[in-house]
Amino acid sequence: MTAKATNIVWHHSTVTRAARAHQRGHRSAILWFTGLSGAGKSTLANAVNSALFEQGLTCYVLDGDNIRHGLCSDLGFSDADREENIRRIGEVAKLFLDAGVVVLTAFVSPFKADRARARALVESGDFVEIHCAANLEVCESRDTKGLYAKARAGEIKEFTGISSPYEAPESPELQVDTGRQSLDDSVAQVISYLEEQGIIPPPGNA
Ligand code: ADX
Repeated sequence: MTAKATNIVWHHSTVTRAARAHQRGHRSAILWFTGLSGAGKSTLANAVNSALFEQGLTCYVLDGDNIRHGLCSDLGFSDADREENIRRIGEVAKLFLDAGVVVLTAFVSPFKADRARARALVESGDFVEIHCAANLEVCESRDTKGLYAKARAGEIKEFTGISSPYEAPESPELQVDTGRQSLDDSVAQVISYLEEQGIIPPPGNA
């Protein structure tokens, strides 16, 4: 999106991202968790965040349900509102990236084009798309928030997977079987990927 305002000039920060990475001893990255409601995005993002924090790394979770209470409280669940929700999160995540943080975003982010736009805001390698791949059957049977029952009863409109589409990623950096795999195994899978990519230091070197 181009800026609406005119006469604005980008001001370059004197503290660079590279300087922050050097001081902290690790790179920053955006870990973008996507999947159906109830697929385990927030659970996995929070567990990975705890593991990173225990290693002494600078990390933060942006969570859909929480962000919708504040930054995005003016948005609902129409396609256009979801697009705007994900646009804002992409921009916020980019700021965290620049601030030297491993930022974990847990949003349904159902549309490929919106995820692609968030990815395109940053360099390749800085955006790690993680598909929490629990299928609809599993998510609906869990129904942790009781929302699927309400959606089936027609009490919630435009509910992802029921009355609004979910476009699964075709080539995410990581696919995690959050429908069957244990949380510990899922965390280990994400952490190993981050180590392999050099985003976080190998164990014992943090
Ligand atoms: S997104 O589609 O714009 O990425 P987001 O992740 O912010 O969605 O919010 C999804 C969360 O809002 C779900 O986990 C669920 O708890 C709640 N929710 C309420 N209504 C809906 C709906 N119609 N579709 C999907 N999630 C909904």
